[in-house]
Amino acid sequence: MGRYLVTGGAGYVGSHTVLALRDRGEDVVVLDDLSKGHRAAVPQGVALVSGRCDDRAVLAEAFARGPFDAVLHFAALSLVGDSMREPLRYMAENLNTLAAVADATVKSGCRKLVMSSTAALFGFPERIPIDEQQGHAPVSPYGESKLMCEQALAWAERIHGLRYASLRYFNAAGADPEGRAGEDHDPETHLLPLAIDAALGKRPPLMVFGTDYPTPDGTGVRDYVHVTDLADAHLRVLPLLDTRSVRYNLGNGTGYSVREVMQAVERVGGRPVPHELGPRRQGDPAVLVASSALLRAETGWTPRFPALDDIVRTAWDWRVAHPQGYAGAKALAPA
Ligand code: UFG
Repeated sequence: MGRYLVTGGAGYVGSHTVLALRDRGEDVVVLDDLSKGHRAAVPQGVALVSGRCDDRAVLAEAFARGPFDAVLHFAALSLVGDSMREPLRYMAENLNTLAAVADATVKSGCRKLVMSSTAALFGFPERIPIDEQQGHAPVSPYGESKLMCEQALAWAERIHGLRYASLRYFNAAGADPEGRAGEDHDPETHLLPLAIDAALGKRPPLMVFGTDYPTPDGTGVRDYVHVTDLADAHLRVLPLLDTRSVRYNLGNGTGYSVREVMQAVERVGGRPVPHELGPRRQGDPAVLVASSALLRAETGWTPRFPALDDIVRTAWDWRVAHPQGYAGAKALAPA
C-alpha cells in the first residue's frame, strides 16, 4: 500500500478521490486551507494539515508526514466566471500554488504528481469531441492559468525528472454513491446543484445562461462526468507515472444541454425546476464534450455512472440527506 498527499482533499473532487484511495487501503494526508473545502469532508483516519499550499511552513508540515508515493494536487481556484472578474488573481494564485507544491514534491524526493486541469484550456474548441490533439486557446483566465500550470510541469519534468499526469476535467457532477461525500460550494455556481436546489424550493429559480447558442435547443452543452469516475481516473494514472508523464481529457463523451439537465432533475426528483431565461455568461463556450479515448485505451478507465440520470440521482440523494450541505455535518464514518 502507498502513502499519498492530496492538496485540496477537503474539496469536491479532492474529497471523492480521498475516498477512492482509502477504499483501496492507501494512507492519505490531506492538505487544505478549508477556504472552500470542508473539514467534515475529510474521513476519519485521514490526517488533515490545515493551511495554504503556497505557505512553505505548511508544506514542510505536510511533507513531514511522508514520504509520499505521489502527490495529487486539487487545490485551485476553479470558476470560469470569477476568473473573468479577477484575472490576475486566478493566474497568480493557481500558478503559485502549483509551483510551490511541485517544488516541495521534488525536494522531498518524490517524483510523481497528478494535477487537476480543465477543459477550459481548449477555449472555443475546433471540433467536438475534444481530443488531446486540439490546440490550446483558453478564453478565460482560469483556462489560461491551468495551461500555465501544465507548462510549468513540463519544465519540472525536463529539469527535475518530475513525472506528472494532467487530467483535463470536463464537468464534474454527482456525489459518492454511498452517500459519504457530495458537492457543497459557497457560493454555489454549478448548474446541477443549483437546479436541484431550485426544484427543492431552497433557492430562487435557476437562471439559464443563454438560449441563443448554436446548439439543438439553444442552451449550453457540457459533458457531465460523475465525480466518482473522475476520482477513479486519478488512481488509474498513478502506475503510468513509473515510466512517463501523461495528459488526458476526462469526460463521459456525451453532451447534455442546460435544458436536458433540468429535465433529468425533474425526472429524478419528480418536481419541476423553476427557472428563468437569461443572457449568456461571459467566457462560456457553446459546447464542451470530451474524447477520453486515449485515457480509456491507456488505463482501461470506463465510467461506472455514464448515464445522466444516475449522476443526477446521486447528487439529488446527497442534497436531500444533507439539506445544509456539510454545515453541521458530523465527521464522516471511517472510510
Ligand atoms: N449554467 C446556467 N445557469 C447557472 C449555472 C450554469 O445556465 O446558474 C450553465 C452554464 O452556462 C453552462 C452549464 O450550465 O452552459 C454548466 O455550467 P457550470 O457553471 O456548472 O460549469 P462550467 O462549464 O462553467 O465549468 C465547469 C467547472 C470548471 C471547468 C469546466 C470545464 O466549474 O472548473 O466545467 O468544462 F473548467
